[in-house]
Amino acid sequence: MKYITTPIYYVNDKPHIGHAYTSIAADVIARFYRIFERTENVMFLTGTDEHGQKVQKSAEKLNINTQDFCNEISSQFRNLKDTLNLSYNYFIRTTDENHKQTVLKMWQLLEEKGYIYKSFYKGWYSQKDEAFIPDNEVNDGKDQNGNSLEFLKEESYFFKLSAFQDKLLNFYKSHPDFIKPSSYMKEVVSFVKSGLKDLSISRTSFTWGIPVTKDPKHVIYVWLDALCNYISAINYLGSDPSKIEYSEHAKEYWDESIHLLGKDILKFHAVYWPAFLIAADINPPKRLFVHGWWTVDGQKMSKSLGNTVDPIQIVNKYGCDEFRYFLFKESNFGYDCNFSENGFVDKINYDLCNDYGNLVHRVLTLANKVAINGIFKLSRSFDLSKNIDSEISSKTIKLKETLKKYINDGLLTEYLKAVFDIISIANKYVNTTEPWKLIKTDLQKFNDVISELIKVIIDISIFLYPFIPESAKKALSFVGISEINENVLNTIYEGLPLEKPTPIFNKIDNKKVNNG
Ligand code: MSP
Repeated sequence: MKYITTPIYYVNDKPHIGHAYTSIAADVIARFYRIFERTENVMFLTGTDEHGQKVQKSAEKLNINTQDFCNEISSQFRNLKDTLNLSYNYFIRTTDENHKQTVLKMWQLLEEKGYIYKSFYKGWYSQKDEAFIPDNEVNDGKDQNGNSLEFLKEESYFFKLSAFQDKLLNFYKSHPDFIKPSSYMKEVVSFVKSGLKDLSISRTSFTWGIPVTKDPKHVIYVWLDALCNYISAINYLGSDPSKIEYSEHAKEYWDESIHLLGKDILKFHAVYWPAFLIAADINPPKRLFVHGWWTVDGQKMSKSLGNTVDPIQIVNKYGCDEFRYFLFKESNFGYDCNFSENGFVDKINYDLCNDYGNLVHRVLTLANKVAINGIFKLSRSFDLSKNIDSEISSKTIKLKETLKKYINDGLLTEYLKAVFDIISIANKYVNTTEPWKLIKTDLQKFNDVISELIKVIIDISIFLYPFIPESAKKALSFVGISEINENVLNTIYEGLPLEKPTPIFNKIDNKKVNNG
């Protein structure tokens, strides 16, 4: 079982490159596991975070009914499925009835176990982050990034977060791989060590949220509400609204859960969420894969600077697989990275066209020349594990285990690099063996070389499939393979029905960059 999640997106903003990045990362991981696990055992969840003051105000500003406003923006996120080719199984909304029931059950559990009490909150609140900001991070009514804060004094329910300091520290210690990359783990540990204050988990100054059952003038804090999406989507607390029943089936997924998230929301996922879960007798998720932030041409992306990158526009201009590939080849997943359209075009032209696309095209064009009745007969019963006679074959065999390890550790950039290293070796192999000459001088040797290269192309296309699904499928279709699963790697092919290859990627003229 595998359970992959994205953060659920706020509906006060339309989708941009940052959202696309998290979603595609999750999609890559889900697709990879679907190749190596039974497909139905891989669950990929995404959705929208629709409650809170920020959303209520955005709708009020436009004079639109809040639910209608949410429906509109939520559908823009849902439609990313087609634009970005996302393979999620379920799209959750925090306004879903089923989700609301889970949040109320969670509240009930925390209350029954004695972790909730009522008091007053006095302090600074950031609407942007939907979070209270500690006094030492407030300067002149503004947070450290210069965003205005509001001073609140309200009756509020509190969660006894302070009681979880040691429990959390013990948890981190016994689960050293909980957060990847591990530098983020250090940050979290030092934050928790510096002391935890109880957390305000209800608000009374607005209404757009889930009301507390016994005290409905309070709505539940948007982060407690939102984080519960990860367990409500799998009905962890049971589907009957009248009783709490921990689901064994959900637990099987939960034990293999991976949350993808940006570094800005690390504290909520690495501190608050495990504390809520431990309080409710539920294990924290298995892994958090944290990624960095995209800047644009070296600048922070913001609506006011007007430099937000619209993934839909980029995909329409350059193609979906091109965009998906670029995001992970350009960035070092886990760390900050910069978007520039020129950099994007270079990656497409050099890596996808020149390296992968060209390898497939020239090898299969040569293979077609000797195909009999459309069938290319591979020399020997072609099994790489028995015919390790070149550097590429031996490296390709080892690749599967390396890539599995990379995916398990959230190392998406290393993954691509490892595959492209093989592509580069394969291209060199073509150049040194010169099969276009062998076809005239030594047909047996020609067949050996091309057979070996075809097997490498098959394996590499399967490995690239999670990142560039449609292009990889196209490459495989040229050799008559339509199924995408682990068997493709392990099959011993004797003859392959060939199609005449057409280019998988088109070179982009750099002039296109600034001409829309
Ligand atoms: N609603 C919360 C998440 C609740 S999860 C229980 C939220 N939503 S968000 O829409 O603001 O952000 C969602 C994701 O997009 C986060 O992982 C965030 O890091 C990511 N990004 C938003 N802007 C980004 C960049 N400029 N660069 C990279 N990712 C960024 O937070």
